[in-house]
Amino acid sequence: MQHIEFYNGNTMPQLGLGVFRVENDDTAKDAVKHAIVNGYRSIDTALIYGNEEHVGLGIKEGIAEAGITREDLFITSKLWLTDYGQDNVAAGYQKSLDSLGLDYLDLYLIHWPGTDEAVMIDTWKGMEALYEAGKVKNIGVSNFTEDNLETLKAHTSIKPVINQVEFHPYLTQRNLRNYLASENIQAESWSPLMNAEILTDETVNDIAQELGKSPAQVVIRWNIDHGVVTIPKSITPHRIDENLNVFDFSLSTEQIERIDALNQDRRIGPNPVEFNG
Ligand SMILES: NC(=O)c1ccc[n+]([C@@H]2O[C@H](COP(=O)([O-])OP(=O)(O)OC[C@H]3O[C@@H](n4cnc5c(N)ncnc54)[C@H](OP(=O)(O)O)[C@@H]3O)[C@@H](O)[C@H]2O)c1
Repeated sequence: MQHIEFYNGNTMPQLGLGVFRVENDDTAKDAVKHAIVNGYRSIDTALIYGNEEHVGLGIKEGIAEAGITREDLFITSKLWLTDYGQDNVAAGYQKSLDSLGLDYLDLYLIHWPGTDEAVMIDTWKGMEALYEAGKVKNIGVSNFTEDNLETLKAHTSIKPVINQVEFHPYLTQRNLRNYLASENIQAESWSPLMNAEILTDETVNDIAQELGKSPAQVVIRWNIDHGVVTIPKSITPHRIDENLNVFDFSLSTEQIERIDALNQDRRIGPNPVEFNG
């Protein structure tokens, strides 16, 4: 598994399993377990997904069956807006730990910036306190704009290690990625497959044919070749395997540019500037 390194020296697998919209039952447990047993080392969940209990069971069973330890895994969860505010962050974090059955997370994210700047700053201060107390390995953000990150920079002291944002061939986020690179903040993509919509794109399918790979593998590899951390979701065992199988090829510069050119600045999720839960 290929890793990226954060500015603080810690590392993260560049590819992981996302579990948004996965039921909190054996579906989540089996997908997470299958992923771990078959080589995944990173899992991305969130309190609001409502599946942390069964994701946690999948982690536990996956560790046992793969013969690895908790330290071999990189587990991410996210603070939801109802737990914003400096004084609420620790309790929000504890809720996720309890549900997952874990005693620490590798990465904890503020899920959305929200529309109240003062609350956003105050909440980040709560994240800093968790990190400084050694309760979480890394702290980061999700859905933050350049303006949000500049605000944090002006008012707080610890820089987020990562910003997880919507990113796929129809929303290539060039300006935001350039800004993140200049600040040494890692970019991470959510809905990298555009919730499967991108898999029917003609250019993606042409390149898949050229390479003898699937459309999903082409798009995931395009994330990897851009240096982005990516977390495609699947509950289907053969797709979970397929999505991990992207480290024995790469795209040519010309193929990367053809996919980059598909950009339409088109979101499938909310616009972070307006979203408040
Ligand atoms: N921070 C945020 O605000 C935020 C927002 C959205 C998502 N996320 C994170 O990002 C993760 C990924 O995003 P997402 O779940 O929205 O969607 P996604 O990963 O872009 O797409 C998932 C869809 O693609 C299908 N799929 C997966 N691999 C495939 C393959 N090889 N061939 C054909 N179809 C395939 C899946 O089907 P099956 O499952 O049926 O196989 C599912 O319907 C989430 O799970 C979550 O962890 C974060």
